[in-house]
Amino acid sequence: MVDGPPGPPGLAGSGDRSVGIDADCAPVALGEVDLSAHSPMPTGIGELDRVLAGGLLPGSATLLGGEPGTGKSTLLLQALAAMASSGRRCLLVAAEESAQQVRRRAGRLGTDVPGVFVVEATRLPQVEAAVASLAPDMVVVDSVQAVSDVDVPSPAGSLAQVRACSHGLVSLARASGAALVLVGHVTKEGALAGPRALEHLVDTVLSFEGDRYSSLRVLRALKHRFGATGETGLFEMGEKGLTGVPDPSIFFLGGRLVGAPGSALTVPLEGYRPLVVEVQALVGRSSPVPRRFVTGLDPGRVGFLVAVLEKRAGVPVGDCDVYVSVAGGARACEPAADLAVCLALASSLSGQPLPAQMVALGEVGLGGELRQVNGMPKRLAEARRLGFGDALVPTSAQRPTRPEPGVARDRRRELPASTLRQALALALGAGPAQLPGGAPGTGTRAAPVMGQPSGDQ
Ligand SMILES: Nc1ncnc2c1ncn2[C@@H]1O[C@H](COP(=O)(O)OP(=O)(O)OP(=O)(O)O)[C@@H](O)[C@H]1O
Ligand SMILES: [Mg+2]
Repeated sequence: MVDGPPGPPGLAGSGDRSVGIDADCAPVALGEVDLSAHSPMPTGIGELDRVLAGGLLPGSATLLGGEPGTGKSTLLLQALAAMASSGRRCLLVAAEESAQQVRRRAGRLGTDVPGVFVVEATRLPQVEAAVASLAPDMVVVDSVQAVSDVDVPSPAGSLAQVRACSHGLVSLARASGAALVLVGHVTKEGALAGPRALEHLVDTVLSFEGDRYSSLRVLRALKHRFGATGETGLFEMGEKGLTGVPDPSIFFLGGRLVGAPGSALTVPLEGYRPLVVEVQALVGRSSPVPRRFVTGLDPGRVGFLVAVLEKRAGVPVGDCDVYVSVAGGARACEPAADLAVCLALASSLSGQPLPAQMVALGEVGLGGELRQVNGMPKRLAEARRLGFGDALVPTSAQRPTRPEPGVARDRRRELPASTLRQALALALGAGPAQLPGGAPGTGTRAAPVMGQPSGDQ
């Protein structure tokens, strides 16, 4: 150890700071840093690799968080098996389940392959010993909350234990070169000790989401030191495990009833990926205490849109029971879906279907104005890819229509509207003069044209 106070070498009274520093700490010119050991190892699960920007890096640490039962263990067992099939050595540290339970799951998933090893371990030194003896390329610890360290005077699963063990496991990954994946449980409130407190310790934080009534699962990167965080992976959960959904728009539109009133198409962004989804609305009878049932959208936002529809476009839905959902378990919790929600509500109320080949994109403001949304070109491109050639868009978002190579000009039709009232007129055929309240955006009320009595005013 260094005697005397620390300080830069060569300065009076600084002592010799070079003592004890080994050769590994010698600075290297940036251009000479060896990158060969740092290329990602594909896991072999396409949707997972998409979120990881190619795969897992040797020596990296990834935290996979998710609510109980979403399929974290399933996803990682499939990833371990896929990695092992490409000749890598993989270790599953089963801290919550027995090796027999893991084997049974592997049998059901068809992931009972050579190259995947399992160890039942709940103590940090046991995990360290298993990694030292197997020298794996990938290690999964399921879950980090079930591992403890006797040197930490706190119960297993406590924040202090989770932090200490995670620190030890991340150091183990760095030293051994294994790609480490920690499973962390979170509740809806994010209350359980662990994942949020560990985010700074690991390189990558993945969140696995899905609700128990839908087979759809969404994988998101909340933090990623080696790539972008906007990518998402989509899976369907079945008896044989998780299957990637390579064309989610087709998945979400399956079973769509073309020409039904109350159905509007929009294109939310799931990460960087545009998806065409169907917003469905059903407007019930008016009641003294109108009810709102919302799935896949922000309920507060739907309430806001109901009020704007009524006040700014004269569509009398405010006193009615309103049911709105995004079909197929998809979500459209962004303002870009506002216009489609309003169109679906107006269509349901009038009983008049919207044009079957039309998507609607635009944020609706409090004044009933339509506002631009981000990522418009890629949203429109996805709609066109699936044959939805007409797009109702805010006037401010309209671009000069220069045909793209391979896309015939007449297949692209952007219908610009600057207000919700104009958009309703374009989509449902009522001209502005026929709409209630006179000029767009005045907010005054007259007899509605959407097929409902006006007694609610
Ligand atoms: N036999 C089966 N057939 C179809 N699906 C199944 C079957 N067994 C389990 N599943 C699905 O797998 C899910 C549980 O998967 P898994 O154990 O991977 O989740 P998890 O996120 O690791 O859960 P936990 O938080 O309890 O560890 C169940 O919710 C169910 O959807
Ligand atoms: Mg599990």
